[in-house]
Amino acid sequence: MSELISKLKTKTREELCELAKNNIITTVEGWVKTKRDSKNITFIEVSDGTCLKGLQVVAERGKIADDVLSGITTGASVVCKGRLVESEGANQAVELQAEEIELVGEAPADYPLQKKRHTLEYLREIGHLRARTNTIGAVMRVRSAMAYAVHKYFQDNGFYYVNTPLITASDAEGAGQMFQVTTLDLNNVPRTEDGKADYSKDFFGKKANLTVSGQLEGETYATALKNIYTFGPTFRAENSNTKRHLAEFWMIEPEMAFCTLEGDMKIAESFLKYIFSYTLENCAEDMEFFSSFIEKGVRETIEHVIKTPFAHLTYTEAIAELEKSKDSFDFKPYWGCDIQTEHERFLSEEVCKSPVIVTDYPKEIKSFYMKMNDDGRTVRAMDVLVPRLGEIIGGSEREARLDVLKQRMAELGLKEEDYWWYLDLRKYGTVPHAGFGLGFERAVQYITGMQNIRDVIPYPRAVGSAEF
Ligand code: 4AD
Ligand code: MG
Repeated sequence: MSELISKLKTKTREELCELAKNNIITTVEGWVKTKRDSKNITFIEVSDGTCLKGLQVVAERGKIADDVLSGITTGASVVCKGRLVESEGANQAVELQAEEIELVGEAPADYPLQKKRHTLEYLREIGHLRARTNTIGAVMRVRSAMAYAVHKYFQDNGFYYVNTPLITASDAEGAGQMFQVTTLDLNNVPRTEDGKADYSKDFFGKKANLTVSGQLEGETYATALKNIYTFGPTFRAENSNTKRHLAEFWMIEPEMAFCTLEGDMKIAESFLKYIFSYTLENCAEDMEFFSSFIEKGVRETIEHVIKTPFAHLTYTEAIAELEKSKDSFDFKPYWGCDIQTEHERFLSEEVCKSPVIVTDYPKEIKSFYMKMNDDGRTVRAMDVLVPRLGEIIGGSEREARLDVLKQRMAELGLKEEDYWWYLDLRKYGTVPHAGFGLGFERAVQYITGMQNIRDVIPYPRAVGSAEF
């Protein structure tokens, strides 16, 4: 019956008071946020986590046994049965006049979430309890709604959901940031004649890793089912301790056959706008909280983003813009450099004042699979950059020409035999195709205004940190 609390959140004060006239007897199950005693009455704020708001339970001494009331402390779990009545207090429209309270589980005085405000850093140390706070609870409800919106967008638009492997023998990005998966005894590694680790003795008979991206396998399905998407965990042994990198993060990767970069960009924009609108519509209470307490005005920002067409710049144009303001950067931009986070933010926040799609990057700073432009220097890559965060999406049109792809791989020292199946896609019925990857946590970060990516995933994994 505790969905009562969720129902309450969608109603206005007037509707709630009207409801309270119906003499509703109901039950609320949840955890005690606070308890306050006055003369003959105890006020208990009970939250069941289904929404931001809790319900005030009013317990009259005499009606509820003293030993129950004294056992009710912050963090305890309770089941309260009573009558929903109009409240005299200013903070809530209705409250529950308790008839019975069952103390299900006590919470001793060392419960780490006492009433005072806690820092997000402190909450990371109690990852197993932090979802009981307003902030992390709201983040995780929004995250859940966004995951649903992701599936809904693609399912409604004719994309098939494909589950790509997490353990793989190929490096999808060719960037060497992989976690190795092995059952070899690290204290007694079998060796080949030349002294190297002998992976033929390993579990898979070859060297294996956790995937950095499902894209390559995604391409094999797009060139069979036309439009597909993946949505799953990816892993990167990136040694960067930043507010926007995780070692384990969730990525959404659509891949479209018979599609070029233009189509790719259109889908990226419409997809982002869809999941943003869905979240604003379905998480109004939590979004109001973020907009008031986490990042002032974040809701209006997102509303604006939904209405405004994304800006477009080529990499060359972007560098020209950055060079005009080069004194404002720690890292001086030049043609050929990797665009840094400070540059990404400048382009979206200052130059375009909106999300911006940057295209046609130098081949040297992008992955081997991207389609080569006729200039021989740039590739058909696109990154979507947003204010506050920088890169949120990375994608490209893929190189569909077998000879050009082989040549790129040779230039980068990638072995053809490691990618034989990927090359087969270009050999048998090759087509223009394109796709992109959205970092799911970056999307949650963007919409909630949360500063640190570690606070938008239940259990963050980062360099030196894998507690829980
Ligand atoms: O730009 P990336 O590396 O692109 C790919 O992996 C392609 N295979 C995608 C594709 O075309 N199918 O990563 C895509 C997105 C980034 O834009 C970023 O949002 C997120 O994934 N991302 C991370 N998020 C959290 N922690 C990390 N370490 C991330 N690395 C990338
Ligand atoms: Mg990228």
